[in-house]
Amino acid sequence: MAYLVHDQELLVRIQLEVLPAVRGDSIDEKYLLERCPQLEALVNETLRLTVTSSLARVVTETCVVGGKTLQKGNKIMVSCLVPPLFYSLISSSQLPIRELHYEQGTWGPTPDTLSANRFIDNPRLSKSPSYRPWGGGHTLCPGRNLARRSVNAFLSIILSRFDVAIESGTFPQNDGARPSPGVVPVAQGQDLQLCLTPRH
Ligand code: HEM
Repeated sequence: MAYLVHDQELLVRIQLEVLPAVRGDSIDEKYLLERCPQLEALVNETLRLTVTSSLARVVTETCVVGGKTLQKGNKIMVSCLVPPLFYSLISSSQLPIRELHYEQGTWGPTPDTLSANRFIDNPRLSKSPSYRPWGGGHTLCPGRNLARRSVNAFLSIILSRFDVAIESGTFPQNDGARPSPGVVPVAQGQDLQLCLTPRH
């Protein structure tokens, strides 16, 4: 929502795209999943920018990494700015997600900017090994389909029933210091207040 309300042209485009999926109190989820490329691309791009939190792991065998001994049983936090020497410790499917989502080799010169058409212009990006909003390997998020359906339903209900504008606040800053297994938390006091006006 924060990205949408800061780009009214994009908001209207997605509003028009999802409208046919909402009839009274029912939502056509299949339509949202299969016939709303703008919505899908926006959600993909938002996940790229916001799934940047730390991952936690337990050391199952004592081992030495970069001259440091990691003792069996200890817990480690794979943080946003992990030193490359720790990369060998974790499988390629579990590299720190922020590093992958912001690396210029895949995402171009301005990886920290939202590009609503990025995944439309290059559909193969959603299968890129540098794109891991749901993690990977044996800890792949089991809630990913529910999460996508919930986001689609939430956005289509809001956008079909209301015109949305900013009431107060700037673009919310995140709090990367707080671990979270998914989307990075919004920092305290950074909530964006919206003004919803019923559509006729
Ligand atoms: C936008 C929403 C979500 C995002 C971005 C997200 C992302 C992730 C990521 C990146 C991981 C891997 C963490 C790691 O490797 O340490 C993960 C794991 C997990 N997620 Fe999600 N998730 C979301 C929603 C959900 C929902 C709705 C559920 C449950 C209904 C869920 C349940 C889980 C569980 C149980 C795990 C741990 C899997 C395991 O370790 O075997 N997630 N999620």
